Amino acid sequence: MVNAVKRVLVFDSGVGGLSVFDAIAASGHALELDYAADNAWLPYGLKSDSELRARVPALLQRLVDQWAPDAVVVACNTASTIALDAVRAQLSVPVVGVVPPIKPAAALTRTGVIGLLATPATVRRAYTNDLIAQFAPDKSVVRFGSAALVEAAERKLRGAPQDPAAIAEAMEGLFGAPGGAEIDVIALACTHFPLLTAELAAAAPRPIVWLDSGEAIARRVANVLIAEPGAARVRRAGFTDAGNLSELYPAFRARGFEAFAQIGPAPGFEAAPIVDSAPA
Ligand code: DGL
Repeated sequence: MVNAVKRVLVFDSGVGGLSVFDAIAASGHALELDYAADNAWLPYGLKSDSELRARVPALLQRLVDQWAPDAVVVACNTASTIALDAVRAQLSVPVVGVVPPIKPAAALTRTGVIGLLATPATVRRAYTNDLIAQFAPDKSVVRFGSAALVEAAERKLRGAPQDPAAIAEAMEGLFGAPGGAEIDVIALACTHFPLLTAELAAAAPRPIVWLDSGEAIARRVANVLIAEPGAARVRRAGFTDAGNLSELYPAFRARGFEAFAQIGPAPGFEAAPIVDSAPA
């Protein structure tokens, strides 16, 4: 018998994919959700293109073998913009990739100036240039790449004190750049950054439309899987680095995760349960 409840694996380098996970979980579809973080390799934004093109498809193939999802969400702009074709060629299940929300940003801007906040890798990718050429040819796009904001989001979800410097640097990088004074929409093109929207909005010089891809991805997943209406069920979260996981439990437990796994090193990426029920 075919399982009516489809299983989705949400993947990111770290906790950023939780911004996409949250949108899928809230979308009102009866889906079973797994999460995997390649946090041993965090941040992806400072890895080379060839390293990511080799590692991400191999890791996802092993997770698909072990966890049997019906679809995979690459909830990482940095991985998607360089390895989505390689991941799709590798996997036999549908793959939904998160890429910079340039198209909706172009539709929403009134000034014609869009801010693009992403990792250092994503802002310079040919994929990103192509999106801008295709969907925002008549707009001006001010780009800023930050690995520090990725770290800031990781710290926030671990409950560590915030370092306002990363936020301030990003705001200066966008609004202080040539043309930056006209920015009215900011595309959050790294899945870590929606986890910091409140902090970013508080540091911005004026009200801004903050755009992320979460809800669009949730709609896409439901369409691809022809998902039934209902409540999402959370299954397990795996990490390539399970050290200091206790700091991350609260953020994952708050989202309903109770089972955690250690994903072993390449090339086996063997996923072994750490706890079936995380400590309170
Ligand atoms: N969350 C990832 C993204 O959407 C990248 C974070 C990292 O650099 O590892 O781009």
